[in-house]
Amino acid sequence: MMIQIKDFQYFTGKEIEVQGWVTNKRSAKGLEFIILRDGSGFAQCIVDESKISAEKFEIAHRLSQETSVKLQGTIVKDEKQIGGYELYVSELEIIGTSEDYPISNKEHGIEFLMDNRHLWLRSKRQWAILKIRNRVIFAINNFFQKEGFVQTDSPIFTGNAAEGSTTLFASKFYDQDAYLAQTGQLYGEAMAMAMGKIYTFGPTFRAEKSKTRRHLSEFWMIEPEMAFFDNDMNMDLIEKFIKYIVTDILEHCKTELEILERDTTVFENIKTKAFPRLTYQEAAAIIKGEKKINGYTTIELLENELAEVKKTIESLLKGIEEREAEINQGGIKKGKRNFLRNKIDKMKAEVNDLRKKEKNIPDWIESAKNFTYGNDFGGSDETSITRMFDVPVMVYNWPHEIKAFYMKRDSENPELAKGVDVLAPEGYGEIVGGGERETDLKLLTEKIHEHQLPISAFEWYLDLRKYGSVPHAGFGLGLERTVAWICGTQHIRETIPFPRLYGRLHP
Ligand code: 4AD
Ligand code: MG
Repeated sequence: MMIQIKDFQYFTGKEIEVQGWVTNKRSAKGLEFIILRDGSGFAQCIVDESKISAEKFEIAHRLSQETSVKLQGTIVKDEKQIGGYELYVSELEIIGTSEDYPISNKEHGIEFLMDNRHLWLRSKRQWAILKIRNRVIFAINNFFQKEGFVQTDSPIFTGNAAEGSTTLFASKFYDQDAYLAQTGQLYGEAMAMAMGKIYTFGPTFRAEKSKTRRHLSEFWMIEPEMAFFDNDMNMDLIEKFIKYIVTDILEHCKTELEILERDTTVFENIKTKAFPRLTYQEAAAIIKGEKKINGYTTIELLENELAEVKKTIESLLKGIEEREAEINQGGIKKGKRNFLRNKIDKMKAEVNDLRKKEKNIPDWIESAKNFTYGNDFGGSDETSITRMFDVPVMVYNWPHEIKAFYMKRDSENPELAKGVDVLAPEGYGEIVGGGERETDLKLLTEKIHEHQLPISAFEWYLDLRKYGSVPHAGFGLGLERTVAWICGTQHIRETIPFPRLYGRLHP
């Protein structure tokens, strides 16, 4: 019977068939150890010279990385092995050969891996990330369906800019000018007036002409919109939603989180702790180092971290030196030498990463010190504030000038808009942006003019305020930023199968 690796657990002691790819292989006397992957998981498969024909053993011996194979054998439980089960192979057949597979276990440069993204996806780490992405999507849908939301779709070709005209991708819609959607929100508002509580989940596009670890040009956004909601209700929903996703992932993605070596203590906190809600004013004071959290200011914390980074670099450099000396001494076996070389490469890559941090932290400190009230938070400001907390932080009551045209002004303090940003802990930055929507037709019209947007493209949107207008609110969660945070990946590019970002359209 043909089964998948994930189901090995149900077939202990049974003879089964499995097909997949050889991801790794090592040889011992009379034995070949194949690490097979089939998309559902990874398993060690053992070919024993004494239990198979000489011809088949020779084939097993010559198997190269990424050769696809069909194996037959008996499943044996072994907790020490990857996945907890292994296969004792009795029959083996090649499906497709693979020669000179370009990606190996050694360190490759990121540009090389990105150029080979179509193959890189097969590696264990990428597999784990995509599995988590899949589960996050599943959890999101479960959450909103359980909460009584209706999933609705918004168009991708649009005639209006909603999130600022500087990041628009211009397109053509037959002979009309069009843009790729930056958000589904405005349509979401219309659908909320029809269905009550809705969510959209689709690709969104922003021409971000800078290379940062948080920006994609094409990303997926989940955008709930609720009639009869104010911003406090909105924040309650966001908190419940994020807690739900995190709890679900902790429960269902243990293997994947282990592969990624993700420290999950932060997620355990999130399950039970309330998210701090800070006004923009309070958050700005924290960024500037004017306010201590748990005994430290942002500046002190960053300075401590810089010292820590310098110390780690030093100890890594020493470790590299020692291993190089060991190699140069000579007289060591080939296997041991390769092991040392590999370790040195890994340590060098780590030093490179830390050097970047060593360079960045002083910039973050400068930027935090110089933060001016009234400005939007930059990436580094978000980094410094989120390092102060072990759960996501919600920042609300923003200066209206730096927020989108549709945000509701606070009637008691018209300088402020009822927006909310959620910043993920551990320096991951903004994962949610949202707020209550302006319902005052006059204020909204003024804002559209102030933002130099063509009023004709918004006539339909203004209709929503003319016919039974109600208070309403919503938010957008960036899927890839959320996955990056959950997976603990440094860069957003690994969280989507084929990232589109500034300077990268292939493969
Ligand atoms: O804060 P943003 O721009 O908000 C909106 O688009 C609203 N219309 C959402 C709403 O209220 N319905 O974007 C929302 C989220 C951000 O918090 C971030 O997670 C993600 O979308 N995001 C990006 N993710 C990757 N690359 C980019 N260039 C992103 N821009 C925004
Ligand atoms: Mg935002």
